[in-house]
Amino acid sequence: MIEFVPIADIAPDLVEQLLDRAFGADRHLRTAYQIRAGVAAIPELSFAAMESGALVGTIQCWPIRFEGDDGNDVPMIQLGPVAVEPARQQGGIGRALTAHALDSAEAAGLAEAITLIGDPEYYGRFFGFDASRTAQWRIPGPVERHRLLARGRAVPEGAGLLGPRITVLA
Ligand SMILES: CC(C)(COP(=O)(O)OP(=O)(O)OC[C@H]1O[C@@H](n2cnc3c(N)ncnc32)[C@H](O)[C@@H]1OP(=O)(O)O)[C@@H](O)C(=O)NCCC(=O)NCCS
Repeated sequence: MIEFVPIADIAPDLVEQLLDRAFGADRHLRTAYQIRAGVAAIPELSFAAMESGALVGTIQCWPIRFEGDDGNDVPMIQLGPVAVEPARQQGGIGRALTAHALDSAEAAGLAEAITLIGDPEYYGRFFGFDASRTAQWRIPGPVERHRLLARGRAVPEGAGLLGPRITVLA
């Protein structure tokens, strides 16, 4: 049985090693990391999946902001990485982790504007993310545009810059 615990309950080294196995040790160069540079993951939306005492997956969410060219500043959540132990992939753990984080965001009133970089065949199919509003976004690094996804009522649609949100959530 899979159990979700706050990621803070797990030794950081174990989390980092799982992320390396899932994404490769060069993962820090990814654009997703640049978008949230310098902020800490949101504890209430970041989880480890445990099975019989073993770490089998993680999800982290980050406070970011969209600085619209029209002057609007939109607080957003960046979702991911979602990582599942390679030997345990394709067994529903990634979906369960993502659903748990999204449910937690809904419950906390933080699900109005969520973004991620990922496969639309996965995040669209299971969770309703799409790239329909992100075409004019600027981000600090290269991205395949169809993989810059968003979900939520308050997702901005115009031109603007995604970056870390340094201020603490109210
Ligand atoms: C991607 C990942 C999080 C998915 O979690 P998982 O537990 O392995 O997969 P799930 O059991 O939740 O989902 C399985 C289903 O999603 C599909 N799927 C899995 N990864 C997919 C992908 N990248 N693109 C499209 N579909 C995908 C599978 O085909 C399967 O579909 P089916 O039920 O019709 O057979 C996990 O495989 C992983 O950690 N991969 C390496 C790191 C990574 O790429 N993370 C995602 C960043 S975008």
